[in-house]
Amino acid sequence: MKQQDEWQKLESEAERINDTTLLDLFAAQKGRVQGMSLDACDLYMDYSKNRIADTTLPLLFDLARARGFEQQREQLFAGQVINHTEQRSVAHMALRAFSSSAYSVNGQDVMPLMRQQLSKMRVFVNAVRTGKWRGHTGKPVRSIVNIGIGGSDLGPKMVVEALSPYLRSDLEIHYVSNVDSSALLQALEQCDPEQTLFVICSKSFLTAETLANSQAARQWFLSSGGSTQVLHKHFVAVTTNSAEANKFGIHPDQQFAMWDWVGGRFSLWSSIGLSIALMMGMDRFIELLKGAEEMDQHFLNAPLEKNMPVIMALLGVWYSSFMGAESHAVIPYDHYLRLFPEFLQQLDMESNGKQVDRQGKVVDYATAPIVWGTAGTNGQHAYFQLLHQGGRLIPSDFILLKESHNPLANNHQQLLASGIAQMEAFMAGKDEKTARRELKLQGLAKEEIDKLAPYKVFPGNQPSNAIVMDKLTPKRLGSLIALYEHKIFTQGVVWNLNSFDQWGVEYGKQLTNQILDELDEDKRVKVKHDDSTAELIRRLLK
Ligand code: F6P
Repeated sequence: MKQQDEWQKLESEAERINDTTLLDLFAAQKGRVQGMSLDACDLYMDYSKNRIADTTLPLLFDLARARGFEQQREQLFAGQVINHTEQRSVAHMALRAFSSSAYSVNGQDVMPLMRQQLSKMRVFVNAVRTGKWRGHTGKPVRSIVNIGIGGSDLGPKMVVEALSPYLRSDLEIHYVSNVDSSALLQALEQCDPEQTLFVICSKSFLTAETLANSQAARQWFLSSGGSTQVLHKHFVAVTTNSAEANKFGIHPDQQFAMWDWVGGRFSLWSSIGLSIALMMGMDRFIELLKGAEEMDQHFLNAPLEKNMPVIMALLGVWYSSFMGAESHAVIPYDHYLRLFPEFLQQLDMESNGKQVDRQGKVVDYATAPIVWGTAGTNGQHAYFQLLHQGGRLIPSDFILLKESHNPLANNHQQLLASGIAQMEAFMAGKDEKTARRELKLQGLAKEEIDKLAPYKVFPGNQPSNAIVMDKLTPKRLGSLIALYEHKIFTQGVVWNLNSFDQWGVEYGKQLTNQILDELDEDKRVKVKHDDSTAELIRRLLK
């Protein structure tokens, strides 16, 4: 790919841009903010504080077109088998395609399945929320425990947290993912077995952590007055693997289907989102889906030059592949969105954390960055120092919400002012002359100024996107999540990756099982380890 004309032009562009600063770029381009911002789906994105000239994005659009982006986007929405290493379609957009009468996945219309699943969810959700659904002693559900990991946990957990103001206050939710028993026990301590509903979310129903936690939860239920005859009143499952769910003892009526064309990290829109619907009602869940659908339509139909996910994606490609950035920070200035970066870590890094292209060749360019971040303003008092003066290029997304769900004194003004100020400081920095002037104004002697000035200089030139919305609603959250989903797809196309498999994670599972088999005396498995691994096994496990 590096030989491609489009790629080489971008390499020259990067050399040119490296000799300028963001302040130079602003000075050189009148109307930069108007030209480098756009509105879509109730979101406003200002990308003017990026290290790009007016010539850069056109070159990136050329690269995307040369990589076949438009055709591949069509293939995605046509439900074709684009996950070629697993022979699967990628069609999570079908789950929210309310305005389509049909959605074809590998030649089959899946809309009837969708409608059926949504009405099954609605009946169940309403029964639980109205108290019609009773536990085995006749009491209504008060605690929901979602057991799942990865995509079967991070998406629903993030959404439920983000939409806290929309949740029922008389229902409690716990998300248990880690196989560390403290996680489950901490949740169970707060639950009454007669009023607890377990939602086992596992696309495969084979994931070791989820199975271990589900078995332990089952045991807890049985040993606290429950029985296998009434298990169905307290355990439901979301899975593609009904055979295993049956074996566990989940009644078929209490199983919610999934399909192999919905990847784990893209599955919150499916019945993996059951806990979301239970906590905020089916109508709000549909609003979330509709927000995502609006972004799907924007992504599919807007020209590249006005396409929010495409622009975001190409900026990311620019920094990773041409400017040498190794990480990307996502900083939501909203307490409720604080799990968003963690959710994005799986979405982004499990999708594009790859270096073998679609033809099986190791690529010669950098791909996905390390995604990280926490809520503002907390980050400001932790790692922002490195962003200001650590000397690394770290692009970031600042997510800013105009209105708070919980206005209190001047707090929201302070929150937003902080976010805006940080972005400005990242961009503009502070030169030595200004630093010296400020120190002089403070009355410092020349000798002291000479000593202190170098520490008061901020190189700036640190890029950021501002993603702005009014109040956070289910619909806007849906659009925001889909924005990142499509960003990641677009980057996968440009980097020529399969964004939808995760062989690295599968390898991790295999290695754990190997060690567990080795410890099981009945299995008599012997594995040759390096000395360090063997010693750790001896110290910790034998
Ligand atoms: O983390 C790897 C992974 O395969 C994810 O893609 C998936 O979301 C998670 O495991 C859980 O898998 P399952 O839903 O099958 O239990």
